[in-house]
Amino acid sequence: MIEASGITKRFGSTLALDGVDLSVGAGTVVGLLGPNGAGKTTLVRILATLLPPDGGRASVAGFDVVRDAVSLRSMIGLAGQFAAVDEILTGRENLELVGLLYHLGKKERRRRAQEVLERLTLADAGDRQVRTYSGGMRRRLDLGASLVGRPPVLILDEPTTGLDPATRIDLWQFIADLVAEGTTLLLTTQYLEEADRLADRIVVIDHGHVIAEGTSAELKATLGRDLLEVTVTDADRLGDAARLVADLGHADPVLDPAKRLVSVASGGGAATVVEAARRLAEAGVSLDDIGLRRPSLDDVFLTLTGHGAGDEAPPTGPGELVLGATEGSYR
Ligand SMILES: Nc1ncnc2c1ncn2[C@@H]1O[C@H](COP(=O)(O)OP(=O)(O)OP(=O)(O)O)[C@@H](O)[C@H]1O
Ligand SMILES: [Mg+2]
Repeated sequence: MIEASGITKRFGSTLALDGVDLSVGAGTVVGLLGPNGAGKTTLVRILATLLPPDGGRASVAGFDVVRDAVSLRSMIGLAGQFAAVDEILTGRENLELVGLLYHLGKKERRRRAQEVLERLTLADAGDRQVRTYSGGMRRRLDLGASLVGRPPVLILDEPTTGLDPATRIDLWQFIADLVAEGTTLLLTTQYLEEADRLADRIVVIDHGHVIAEGTSAELKATLGRDLLEVTVTDADRLGDAARLVADLGHADPVLDPAKRLVSVASGGGAATVVEAARRLAEAGVSLDDIGLRRPSLDDVFLTLTGHGAGDEAPPTGPGELVLGATEGSYR
């Protein structure tokens, strides 16, 4: 449903996208994961025809983003990174307005607005002005607006950024329901957990490059290893412990004397822990703790990008001020 190849985009001296390939199969969910400034929103805007690429080609549902932009727009729903709802209008009026832009008749507009309000548990607030809404309600309304046209392809740019954990989980459930009904979804996120939870496939981008892709299990398997961690009771026995477990790992053990901790990257799973415990007990090394730490998607991300998710500048560059106003200007 979404195909992009060799997409490049430059803003002055910034190369925001540098030959990005992306493919999203019908009915699947791809999570585009990357830190601030990685190029996620730029790619989303290109796919949504809001921004022309400098190079490369992209199509959504078979429509080229440049040549067939007008036809393409009816195929996608977009919820941009920054809510694009009108503060003065009520939630319901916002949704009906979107219906109007889709050239829906009055009755149908009303019906769909009501349906969306109910699905997003906004029915009680539907007739209040949006300026009285909480951040989570705005986010939900914004997502709702992208659904009025019942598009087969949905593009969500950081749908849950800034939401509290409970609201985030509600939205995840809602998004999962849409996908179960057959919607194709591209979602960008800085939350590894979100990509892990929602996406069939994850594409990691950084500085305009795709640096890894695969299922979350694949990414963890290729980039992370189980880590056997042993904490000894007596710091003097740390060296002994390291010697005893050394051959259970792929690499030399790493010692952290301050924590009385030995860790060793291992591929042996739980059996490694049993064997290590046996050896250490036999040698009379007493332990405070022993265990196997599985790599998280966070570890993978850190390995790939050299920095954690979201520990760069806040997402308000000058570009957002210039072009942000057009985001979501159609649905
Ligand atoms: N209109 C613009 N003018 C100038 N530079 C821009 C513009 N839009 C984006 N950029 C730059 O392109 C790069 C990619 O930005 P983009 O918004 O695509 O990142 P992102 O991955 O969406 O980041 P975030 O997680 O902060 O939303 C950044 O360096 C950004 O400053
Ligand atoms: Mg962005």
